[in-house]
Amino acid sequence: MSGLTKEQVLDALRAVRHPRRAGDVVGLGMITGVVIKGTNVGLSIEVEPGEARDLEPLRRACEAAVKALPGVTSVTAVLTAERAPAGRAGPPPSLPGENRAPARPLVPGVRAIVAVASGKGGVGKSTTAVNLAMGLAALGQRVGLLDADIYGPSLPRMTGATGRPSSPDGRKLRPMEAFGVKVMSMGFLVEEDAPMIWRGPMVQSAIQQMLGDVEWGQLDVLVVDLPPGTGDAQLTMAQRVPLSGAVIVSTPQDIALLDARKAINMFRKVDVPILGIVENMSYYCCPKCGHRAEIFAHGGARECARRYGVDFLAEIPLDAEIRELSDAGRPIVLARPESPQAQAYLQLAMSVRDKLAELEGGKARRFPRIVWS
Ligand SMILES: Nc1ncnc2c1ncn2[C@@H]1O[C@H](COP(=O)(O)OP(=O)(O)OP(=O)(O)O)[C@@H](O)[C@H]1O
Ligand SMILES: [Mg+2]
Repeated sequence: MSGLTKEQVLDALRAVRHPRRAGDVVGLGMITGVVIKGTNVGLSIEVEPGEARDLEPLRRACEAAVKALPGVTSVTAVLTAERAPAGRAGPPPSLPGENRAPARPLVPGVRAIVAVASGKGGVGKSTTAVNLAMGLAALGQRVGLLDADIYGPSLPRMTGATGRPSSPDGRKLRPMEAFGVKVMSMGFLVEEDAPMIWRGPMVQSAIQQMLGDVEWGQLDVLVVDLPPGTGDAQLTMAQRVPLSGAVIVSTPQDIALLDARKAINMFRKVDVPILGIVENMSYYCCPKCGHRAEIFAHGGARECARRYGVDFLAEIPLDAEIRELSDAGRPIVLARPESPQAQAYLQLAMSVRDKLAELEGGKARRFPRIVWS
């Protein structure tokens, strides 16, 4: 149904009354977002912090009220709660290259948050984020993995984690776990075929809830798979989430590198240290004869890193096994740790770990290299 309007949705919602307060959800100003995409509707409902569990029936009633409108095929409503201003409000911006004062942790117990980002979609960011997280775990770090890609969460599939996060206390969600890594994704919270039609404030509050309302526990690193691009949503996220650093993923083609530069500039603008660049699908290694072919102009990311004064972290080959194992929820870094591809991801993990230690303590701590027997 193409003619569905926001007014019709709000009219339907006026029938839903708050269980304790006098009035309906619209009159009480609780509906903070309505997104209509064809026959799919998304709603955000503002609630008081801590009352989300009690208001689950209200959320469902809102969904049902809108679903009853003729022609609506799906409704996804989320409860959002205003929190104290979080993130990097604290330290004043410093000049590029200057040491930043550590931001107040948004997530208590999490020592470092690392964003994996790219200017362009489809360059292998999520694959890199998963293998980086699992690689860090293989090095003995306590690791979490957050899928900040609300529109197209891919981490449930890539990590093989299934089911729904539980909430024993009704306030905080317990993250899922895959190979010893704590994983959180919107993909665990909404039906697989539900449309992802979040926008602006809804995305931000979803991310903040997945950071702040999840029992991450004590972590050395939380790896965040950011959505692709450098739009407002990414920028705001880079500003609001106290990122310790960013890893930029790019393929070697000029067009992807152009976007990688945009991503570098975006993080620099908001004073997030760039840990370095990863060149993904860097070269092709024939699985049969081992011949290495540079199908794209290999080395572009290294050159881009040099020009921008950031480190070049790793080159990952274009390799069918990386994709196959990733699709099967078995990251190659764990499934075939002895392979050269896995070793490339491990090198990346070691560099990231060492750089975080440098940022945290001033001086880099050296860890013994692990040897796969
Ligand atoms: N090095 C690689 N070799 C072969 N296939 C790869 C490699 N890296 C990623 N892929 C595959 O490319 C596809 C896109 O990768 P991925 O989903 O990680 O990209 P993305 O940047 O996160 O995409 P999006 O922008 O949609 O979030 C996937 O099918 C993945 O398995
Ligand atoms: Mg992705």
